[in-house]
Amino acid sequence: MERSMKMKLTKKMQSALLIEDNLRLFKCPICSAEMEMEEHSRLVCWNRHSFDLAKSGYVNLAPQAHSTKYDKSLFEARTAVMDSGFFGPVLDNIIARLNTHLDGMERPVLLDAGCGEGTHLHKVHSRMQPGTVGIGIDLAKEGIVAASKTYPGIVWSVADLAAMPFADSSMDAIVNILSPANYAEFNRLLNPGSILVKIVPETGYLQELREVFYDGKQQKEEADPVARFREQFDVVESERLTYLFELPEALLAPLIRMTPLTWNASEQRIGEVLAMGMKEITIDLRVIAGVRRAGEIG
Ligand SMILES: C[S@@+](CC[C@H](N)C(=O)[O-])C[C@H]1O[C@@H](n2cnc3c(N)ncnc32)[C@H](O)[C@@H]1O
Ligand SMILES: [Zn+2]
Repeated sequence: MERSMKMKLTKKMQSALLIEDNLRLFKCPICSAEMEMEEHSRLVCWNRHSFDLAKSGYVNLAPQAHSTKYDKSLFEARTAVMDSGFFGPVLDNIIARLNTHLDGMERPVLLDAGCGEGTHLHKVHSRMQPGTVGIGIDLAKEGIVAASKTYPGIVWSVADLAAMPFADSSMDAIVNILSPANYAEFNRLLNPGSILVKIVPETGYLQELREVFYDGKQQKEEADPVARFREQFDVVESERLTYLFELPEALLAPLIRMTPLTWNASEQRIGEVLAMGMKEITIDLRVIAGVRRAGEIG
């Protein structure tokens, strides 16, 4: 009975109830005051800054509008690729780390910082212990709109990972997949001993695309991401996952579309690569897991 009643709730109401249950996690992105839910429709802080829930249930907690190069078609392409099993071994690895760490915790809170269109968080969350609270944030509104339409049962918010609208020590785990890190914020949100899992690309990641678009030349890379991680967190695991993914023909176009690697490619070159075809693609990523040190903020 209860379940059939739940089925009839709108996405917005489901999300409002989920947020209401977890209000203690939120803080106002403008003045840092605590937030309340009004009329199952908006988050309002004690200083009356107000943030409406959208029809699909997400809440925009970014103080200013941002336009990013991550648009609707890019996120649709990402969903098509990520739904295909492309990231399967990587997600299995992340889930194993999180489950080991969160085992036995009551209602643990898991944040995906820079979640894009939400498929990874949805897949991870669906394999965590019941009661796990999932929160996905991204600055690209189009990603969060898509996530909230497709994956109810998770809190989706447009927000800046450099200034997150959440209370200190509010998260039990953070994942940060191919997105920028902000270690000061990760430190602030995690408790000592809580886990951060970060995914960074290694040199072979999508190398077949680099070969056809850039003659294999490396793009400019961030200075050693593992070293940066290690400065801030105690690394408990750093594992490189390299595998070839057999690419179904229909996935080549979305694969080309989904990655910033091809943003500067001409339509003509894209057409040539599509005509040429690509049988397989290399996934080469590093999973870095670490725990927050005691007594450090920032
Ligand atoms: C390569 S995508 C990865 C998205 C997703 N994690 C995935 O693997 O499919 C990088 C993401 O980081 C987000 N991003 C970049 N800067 C951000 C910021 N300051 N706050 C929140 N998200 C940010 C972008 O909007 C984009 O969705
Ligand atoms: Zn406020």
